[in-house]
Formats: sequence, C-alpha cells, structure tokens
Amino acid sequence: MTSHIELKSEIEKIISDKRLSTTQILKAITVFLQQDAEKYTWVGFYHMNNTNQTLHLGQYTGKETDHTVIPYGKGICGQVAVSGATYIAEDVTAESNYIACSMDVRSEIVVPIYYNEKLVAQLDVDSKRINAFDEADRKMLEEVCEIIGNKLGAEMRFDDLKD
Ligand code: SME
Repeated sequence: MTSHIELKSEIEKIISDKRLSTTQILKAITVFLQQDAEKYTWVGFYHMNNTNQTLHLGQYTGKETDHTVIPYGKGICGQVAVSGATYIAEDVTAESNYIACSMDVRSEIVVPIYYNEKLVAQLDVDSKRINAFDEADRKMLEEVCEIIGNKLGAEMRFDDLKD
C-alpha cells in the first residue's frame, strides 16, 4: 500500500499535470485512489448544485450507479452537503439515512471539498470491507481534498464544471 506521503505527492503530481483538464484530473485521482480496490472499491466526486439543492455525480471509478443526482439531506452524501463535515459509516447497514449504490458496499467515507470556505464538492469512497476507514484514512483523504479544493475548487461546483 502506498504511504500517506507518497499518495499525497502522487495526487499533487496529477493535479499539476498541465496536459489535463479539470475533469480529466478528477478522473485520474479516482483511478489512482481506486487502485487499492479491495479497500477503495468505488471512488467518486459529487458536485454541489446550490440552485437545485442537489449533488451531481461527476468523475468516478468503480461500478456504474443509478444515484447520479442526490438531494441535499438524503443519504450519507446528502447529509455531508448539509453538515459540511466528513462522515464515516463504519457499517452501512446500521445507517438510517443511507442510499445503497451496490449491495457489495459495507462501509463508506464522504469528505467535503471546500474552496474559499464554501462547500463545492465531495469525495465519496465506498468499501466492500466493513469498517474499512480509520482515522489515518480520514486524515489522508481530508488532506487530499484540501489540496484538490485549493487547486481546483473554483471549477468544482456543478455550475462551474467544464470538460
Ligand atoms: N451511499 C451514498 C450514495 C452514493 S453511492 O455510494 C455511489 C449515500 O448514502 O449518499
């Protein structure tokens, strides 16, 4: 498994690749994180649409999902849209407000992405392992999302996203 520092430096490398558009960079990040598919089974970005109060699925790696639009407040992602704080579901079957994307998923982490202190998107990671995400994962993914938000956040709201 790639160390925390190597992982951050790899993400920074992807973000500064001038040949890639913002959406290509985000896709490359999901591909990179999902390499450890046993743990990071599904990795994707949801983008905030404050006009409609909905989250929109953008770039992802893993199985196709029907949940391409999620209202604020619904499911783990919708709860993070409202709270603005990272949420770890150790066992998704114990969650009362959860949207199942695939029956294989056992645990999930959703990390908010900020730009200029405004919530613009989220990184959603699903695992087929129960209780897959610990404090080290939270710290690493929060740092990764901070880098992503600072560098790309201006273009990450649903309305601002361009190909
Ligand atoms: N499980 C999420 C929905 C997104 S899928 O996992 C891709 C939720 O409860 O918001």
